[in-house]
Amino acid sequence: MTPSTLTVLGLETSCDETAAAVVRRSGDGAVTVLSSVVGSQIAAHAPYGGVVPEIAARAHVETIEAIAGEALREAGVGYADLSGVAATAGPGLVGGVMVGLSFGKAVALARGLPLIAVNHLEGHAVSARLDADVAYPFLLLLVSGGHCQLLAVDGIGACRRLGTTIDDAAGEAFDKIAKTLGLPYPGGPALEHLAKGGDPDRFVLPRALLGRKDCDFSFSGLKTAAARLAEGLTTNAEKRDLACAVQAAIARQLAERTDRAMQAYAHAHEGRDLRFVVAGGVAANATVRARLTEIATARGFSFTAPALAYCTDNAAMIALAGAERLALGLTDGLDAAARPRWPLDEAAALANPIHVAGRKGAKA
Ligand code: KG4
Ligand code: ZN
Repeated sequence: MTPSTLTVLGLETSCDETAAAVVRRSGDGAVTVLSSVVGSQIAAHAPYGGVVPEIAARAHVETIEAIAGEALREAGVGYADLSGVAATAGPGLVGGVMVGLSFGKAVALARGLPLIAVNHLEGHAVSARLDADVAYPFLLLLVSGGHCQLLAVDGIGACRRLGTTIDDAAGEAFDKIAKTLGLPYPGGPALEHLAKGGDPDRFVLPRALLGRKDCDFSFSGLKTAAARLAEGLTTNAEKRDLACAVQAAIARQLAERTDRAMQAYAHAHEGRDLRFVVAGGVAANATVRARLTEIATARGFSFTAPALAYCTDNAAMIALAGAERLALGLTDGLDAAARPRWPLDEAAALANPIHVAGRKGAKA
């Protein structure tokens, strides 16, 4: 092992998954995921139809130590083999974030290891680099249950926001509409399953922000219209077609805004390789992937989406963001704070604050 090889334990507790992973990054940047353990709390939240913050925090406390132990065991490494500990420090449900961050601080203190306080969104941003050779810079669509934004990613700590949602995140829209269709939580995968073989044109749904030429998203009108339509449905075929129309409408909006962002990005990066990455839980959706692949091909961008296990929340992406930060000498003190809100592009967020209450608080 060369001295510049880094082995990092990652911890992720910002929502309803308790996750730990060990990632090794060699001096030349090659990445190996030695383990990635995700303990889902779906069963604990399902009776409430969504994530209950107090239940999530308690479940993280109960399982984090065992899950971190499992990740080390599976990776075949001990605490003594680690170069650093990376923990999500936000944005997210702060009670949960505090659990993983405190655990990470305890390991760092006890073992004399550097701590890296990772932005969950930066984790999603690097997630495609876990299993594919995606060099910086790239255009990123980050589309999950708590976030929906387009970012120009130049490297670690260097993201510029090109567009964001002005109300709900796309995953949140999937989840809420799925609930009105009587589907179980989490709604995105259930709605995708229901939509199979459906007719996307049977129901007409509104299109958002038609008068605007920017890259912002809005899903609240779609959510209201779908809820109203869902109330009058009686047959399974009608529900299937509505699910299909909703999925098509979300995929269309994501593709339209991405297309706009690609045009601006390509203009700013003339003569360079153009790369597009989609990450976050909604990137698991096949229709969304298909629309985005078409757009990327038409605009001359390469298309990369992480493996499904790295699209949804996981700790391997946190460990990799931590390893990339550590390689640059970017570490944090044991006083690092848990942050419910933490925009990746702080300058853009300050210049154009969009404060909306969502499942994870304001969209960062
Ligand atoms: O990235 P993630 O695990 O957590 C957040 O950081 O939010 O994303 C979870 C979101 C949920 O809203 C879930 O319904 C959605 O991603 N999702 C999907 C699919 N799989 C997960 N949405 C649509 N289709 C899917 N196949
Ligand atoms: Zn996430």
